[in-house]
Amino acid sequence: MRFLNFSFSILFSSALLLASSVTAYTNPQSCTGTCTNAHDPSIIRRDSDGTYFRFSTGGNIAIHTAPAITGPWTYKGAMLPSCSKISLSGNCDLWAPSVHKVGSTYYVYYSVSTFGSQNSAIGLATSSTMDVGSWTDVGATGISSTSSKSYNAIDPALIQVGSSYYLNFGSFWGDLYQVQMSSDAKKGGGGSSYQIAYTSSGTHAIEGAYMINYSGYYYLFFSAGICCGYDSSRPASGAEYKIKVCRSTSATGGFVDKNGVSCTNGGGTVVLESHDKVYGPGGQSLYNDPTHGWIIVYHYVNTSIGYADGQKQFGWNQIKWSNGWPTV
Ligand SMILES: *[C@@H]1O[C@H](CO)[C@@H](O)[C@H](O)[C@H]1NC(C)=O
Ligand SMILES: *[C@@H]1O[C@H](CO)[C@@H](O)[C@H](O)[C@H]1NC(C)=O
Repeated sequence: MRFLNFSFSILFSSALLLASSVTAYTNPQSCTGTCTNAHDPSIIRRDSDGTYFRFSTGGNIAIHTAPAITGPWTYKGAMLPSCSKISLSGNCDLWAPSVHKVGSTYYVYYSVSTFGSQNSAIGLATSSTMDVGSWTDVGATGISSTSSKSYNAIDPALIQVGSSYYLNFGSFWGDLYQVQMSSDAKKGGGGSSYQIAYTSSGTHAIEGAYMINYSGYYYLFFSAGICCGYDSSRPASGAEYKIKVCRSTSATGGFVDKNGVSCTNGGGTVVLESHDKVYGPGGQSLYNDPTHGWIIVYHYVNTSIGYADGQKQFGWNQIKWSNGWPTV
């Protein structure tokens, strides 16, 4: 009896620990070198020599490299120093890059837009090495928007499903959309695009889709809330950026959150939000790292450093899977 009581109390306290860890987040893992200039980061490890490349918003897509995900990160230059050839306002201030390897070529999808405008387009640049100076601007993917569209064509990210490619994109308005790409993943918009996530509340503030295929499900990560300008206007507590996820057995629809709420009806389970000194984490992408397994990379405000967009820090964490759901 004594023994039973003893194990019961151990079980009981571990249950309490589990319950309290549900809302506890791990701090960003180690980063050395240039850990700022990191808005909307997307990373990949170059196969030939193991160098990590980080692409981020600003300076016509900033490229940083490091020998490991932990750093030290060094700024190398702009991906497209002569701007994008897409003829649209914003083509010298490119946003939200997303790097992928397609066959033996590295692809970076990028956004051309101006803040708050639906006059937007998704472009593509390619390289076989990713080094600064090696990028070819392919230009328009054919995915674009004006105020007549139900979406804003920014924040692209590719997913391969078997031998097919799909591009997820969108921000505010009708939120997240998807379109099948050509077999070389360079052009989209041949078929029509369709909505994959939407929240009717407030300003429909979801954007920054990133989808992965893991263990029989497609996980759709996105950023929800207000992204930027926290130094001039701080949103109400909880309205700042946070990272959410939905999943489906299909890559093309049927996404639900952990409670079964459809993600075209406001669903989304929080993966990471403000905690401790971390404020407004978002702009995330995921990477299946050869050393650390699935990791999430994102930008965040370190409240000890400052709230300006230029002060945003590069964060990354290993994903821990809990009953089929990603946690940080
Ligand atoms: C999903 O990922 C697994 C593991 O990387 C891969 O083997 C499989 O082909 C992927 N599924 C599809 C449909 O692409
Ligand atoms: C925030 O910045 C302070 C001061 O540089 C540093 O000690 C702390 O580790 C940082 N925290 C995070 C989560 O980046």
